[in-house]
Amino acid sequence: MTFPLHRLRRLRKNGAIRRLISETTLNVDDFVAPLFVREAITEAQPITSLPGVFQHTRESLKREIDEIMNLGIPGIILFGIPEKKDATGSEAWNPDGIVQQAIADCKSIAGDDLVIMSDLCVDEYTDHGHCGVVNDDGSIDNDLTLDLYKKIAVAQAHAGADVIAPSGMMDGQVAAIRNALDETGYLDIPILAYSAKYASGLYGPFREAVNVSLENSDRKSYQQDWRNKREAMNEIKADLDEGADMIMVKPAVTYLDIIAQAREITDVPIGAYHVSGEYSMIKAAGGKGWIDEKQVAIEQLTAVKRSGANFILTYFAKEIAECL
Ligand code: PBG
Repeated sequence: MTFPLHRLRRLRKNGAIRRLISETTLNVDDFVAPLFVREAITEAQPITSLPGVFQHTRESLKREIDEIMNLGIPGIILFGIPEKKDATGSEAWNPDGIVQQAIADCKSIAGDDLVIMSDLCVDEYTDHGHCGVVNDDGSIDNDLTLDLYKKIAVAQAHAGADVIAPSGMMDGQVAAIRNALDETGYLDIPILAYSAKYASGLYGPFREAVNVSLENSDRKSYQQDWRNKREAMNEIKADLDEGADMIMVKPAVTYLDIIAQAREITDVPIGAYHVSGEYSMIKAAGGKGWIDEKQVAIEQLTAVKRSGANFILTYFAKEIAECL
């Protein structure tokens, strides 16, 4: 039997029919906008490697929140950059620390009309840039780090965070945070676990965004090896056992297979982080006129959704929300 002529192409012949049969629709409801707030600056600072993204002051952050809400974007995730960094990242749990103040600012403007997620880690707050306590031999102390994460979770919840998102890849971090939140009465605050987070080169521009340099070191002793897929499923299952309400895969486009398999093994909501390098590559090639930025952004974000993600953390949130 021969394949009938035009059998598949006839369903692609105009925009209306393509829309009618589309299997995946990217929507503003899919987006979480990552935002940076920095202590002790008087004006928002552009981040060179993330064109269009800024380190905000508390004031400029409030204006950004207004714009995000006007666009109908349902969520943000906040990262703080303190003026003083130290060995343990103590500003991360200071009740008056920059991110706690910013969470409270956002909450006062947005109320329950925006999901305020808070990234929980210490790398933006430590002078060495690692996500945990560094031992004398250079290794990362998992359990000492968990004690810090518990304090941060409570401080962020107290400030008004709606979702706590631990990104440090310590073992047992979800259980530790869940206990800390439950013990302090924050039973209704969900945890979005960065479960399958790879030791990716695509976080480069983020380092500029949070003023971290990791010269001569990397995070491969705690973030995942990109050669592994089954290991990611173990990470996800462990986080679910520990009480994660939602899980995340990060980065996104290089890890669509991980998202798709995660979708097979769990019914909890799955987030995917389209990270700084994924954004910058599109911006850089777009800036040179080599690709159509918006088309490639929509194509990638749609692919992430098609692979099984329920929502996407993306620096494109505002720009693409405007054109959807
Ligand atoms: C850790 C954290 C990182 C990112 C989000 N949370 C950096 C890292 O783990 O190296 C990267 C996000 C991005 O590249 O956009 N707090």
